[in-house]
Amino acid sequence: MEKVQFKRHRRLRHSANMRSMVRETHLHVEDFIYPLFIVEGENERNEVSSMPGVFQISLDLLKEELDEIVSLGIKSIILFGVPKEKDDCGSGAYHDHGIVQEATREVKKHYPELLVVADTCLCEYTDHGHCGVVENGYVLNDESLELLVKTAISQAKAGADIIAPSNMMDGFVAAIRQGLDEAGFVHIPIMSYAVKYSSAFYGPFRDAANSTPQFGDRKTYQMDPANRMEALREAQSDMEEGADFIIVKPALAYMDIIRDVKNNFNAPIVAYNVSGEYSLIKAAAANGWIDEEAVAMEMLTGLKRAGADIIITYFAKDAAKWLQITKA
Ligand code: PBG
Repeated sequence: MEKVQFKRHRRLRHSANMRSMVRETHLHVEDFIYPLFIVEGENERNEVSSMPGVFQISLDLLKEELDEIVSLGIKSIILFGVPKEKDDCGSGAYHDHGIVQEATREVKKHYPELLVVADTCLCEYTDHGHCGVVENGYVLNDESLELLVKTAISQAKAGADIIAPSNMMDGFVAAIRQGLDEAGFVHIPIMSYAVKYSSAFYGPFRDAANSTPQFGDRKTYQMDPANRMEALREAQSDMEEGADFIIVKPALAYMDIIRDVKNNFNAPIVAYNVSGEYSLIKAAAANGWIDEEAVAMEMLTGLKRAGADIIITYFAKDAAKWLQITKA
């Protein structure tokens, strides 16, 4: 009988060195941006109950946290503010001595090289918890843009290296680009949350940032999770308006979108591995149901394979440690 021909794929999987020789995707500590929640007050280091290992940290304890981050080789952080006082127009977001502005100065004082990404949004600072100015229950677009521009400029003045607007108003990249340029910050890039879905995966973040909307939801500005073509329209307009990076958020349930955006736009693509994606793994691992390190590293590798150049992740510190151990 004639022998049936088949291909021997297993040849390239025969040994660890052989597998590493043909490995297509590698994680590096440079890929990660680590999120930090900065809370007003003193001597605060409160673990977020739905995000074990993630803390709200006050300014006086920030240096200690930065020491660890830098010693692990992490090169960039994204800052979120947790203010004590909120109002209807989110003035804490654009106050020159707001919590994120002060935290940025503190980072730059100790570690001028560490890249500070400032999340530019109002929802942590508004008493209603929405990402813009609300009138009759609706978030107004153009009125919100003015406040966002003020926020971005005050963040840049404080020393932020990258402005990351996340509020999903139309035209935010154009408005912020113009505002930054006029204020003398032509060199500061915009990392746009261009493709941001209205997602239940943000639940734990809203505990951490104390930013749950007090009425309604974010569906009139964030995207419908069912839509794929719309992501290309969002990314395209942000690129035309001058975005330097494109964020896709969330990441895990949106890997097709990461790949679509990567294939269609020539800019660094950032996947935001959001709070709920972190909490899922933490909870299952705490129950002994999965191997935390193996699952988290598989997820992060998968996001890179899908097309992410950069990953914002609460696993950054853990992953940096795991990468060191594997290398050793
Ligand atoms: C602010 C913002 C959110 C996240 C990042 N920036 C929350 C939201 O839109 O409600 C979520 C991040 C996460 O879940 O880790 N608009």
